[in-house]
Amino acid sequence: MTELFDDLSPSPRLLMGPGPVDVYPRVLRAMSVPMLGQFDPEFTEYMNEVMALYRQVFRTQNHWTLLVNGTARSGIEACLSSLVAPGDTVLVPQFGRFGFLLSEICGRVGGKIETIETDWGTTFPVDQIADAVRKHRPKVLAMVHGDTSTTMAQPIEGLAEVCREVGTLLYVDATATLGGMPVEVDAWGIDAISAGLQKCMSGPPGTSPVTLSEAATEAINTRKHIEGGIRPEGYVGASGPRISSNYLDLGMLMDYWSPKRLNHHTESTSMLYAARECARVVLGEGLDAGHTRHALASDALRAGLQAMGLELFGDEANRMANVTGVYIPNACGNGEAVRAQMLSDFGIEIGTSFGHLAGKIWRIGTMGYVCHKPNILRCLSSLDAVLRRNGYDAPVNAGVDAAYKIYEGAGQ
Ligand SMILES: Cc1ncc(COP(=O)(O)O)c(C=O)c1O
Repeated sequence: MTELFDDLSPSPRLLMGPGPVDVYPRVLRAMSVPMLGQFDPEFTEYMNEVMALYRQVFRTQNHWTLLVNGTARSGIEACLSSLVAPGDTVLVPQFGRFGFLLSEICGRVGGKIETIETDWGTTFPVDQIADAVRKHRPKVLAMVHGDTSTTMAQPIEGLAEVCREVGTLLYVDATATLGGMPVEVDAWGIDAISAGLQKCMSGPPGTSPVTLSEAATEAINTRKHIEGGIRPEGYVGASGPRISSNYLDLGMLMDYWSPKRLNHHTESTSMLYAARECARVVLGEGLDAGHTRHALASDALRAGLQAMGLELFGDEANRMANVTGVYIPNACGNGEAVRAQMLSDFGIEIGTSFGHLAGKIWRIGTMGYVCHKPNILRCLSSLDAVLRRNGYDAPVNAGVDAAYKIYEGAGQ
């Protein structure tokens, strides 16, 4: 029997977890425009526009600024598997779940992993990372910028200097920060960086903006091998070890994004439209204005949570500007009933946590399209009501009042 199921009809939600978040209506509209062939000059011009737009979003002059099709993890894996060859040393400072992911990916491609660790909820002093770079002299220093698992942002500025000193390439995972906090690729001397759309860029998950410095490009090209069937006559591959993934081979991806348009995959047409529109929305607001909006929303949310008597998670100095960790009060057990009621009764999704933070903190995102005063106030008032039903009484109206005060102080 044919099973057709019902038409798609997702319930209205306000996505205030650590991502994905609600998508800009303009982006949804852009995704519904017609397909073009991948070599249609109109489409290849859109590819060029995407390169130009993401140079601005990343604040870089890097020529090689392109999309890797897949969620943010595909951009991470493309950068690391293209840069790290078997036997290369990689240093991964781990301050949350996503540092473990970088180590995992580098380990799978045969890298020799060195790590330093710090407690979840803290970050590293730049000097501590610099010392480890001098000690291990890695081919790549792989850093997470904002680790949504702990809600902490690792300062990146100052790391490039020590990397240059010892000939290390600096890779950064900016999945969760691009568009929500300053990410200064050229000013910070980053060699390779990847992001996603589903956090502060407020697009759907499914494609990953990446940009590469000249040094990173050179390192990748020492491993460049073009696959059979599309290789130009007489082509001889580079002498370095072939990149183990075909799909995520940035050497071949650069050819696809170059005027040669040497075929690789079929670019995800609708995701390219989405990425293009996300960048146009974010740049249209202005990067700095967007960062200020995220910081203000987080301040208001945090003031509200604290006024409700809740305790914030993590070192204050290096919290991300777009997601907040808050301890689950004892009265609420592991907090899952609260999350479930936020969703069923108010249509608001807030995040749970991973690893040893599971059941201890909630993570509340204030990202992209969601990151506006009405949503902060809705979240706080709904949380207040749900907490009351779960045995935790906050002072009446305190959360919303405190958030109002922060917005009023900013003239909003
Ligand atoms: C810092 C960070 N890196 C990587 C990822 C993985 O992204 P994706 O699920 O899009 O592959 C996430 C997702 O939450 C993230 O927050």
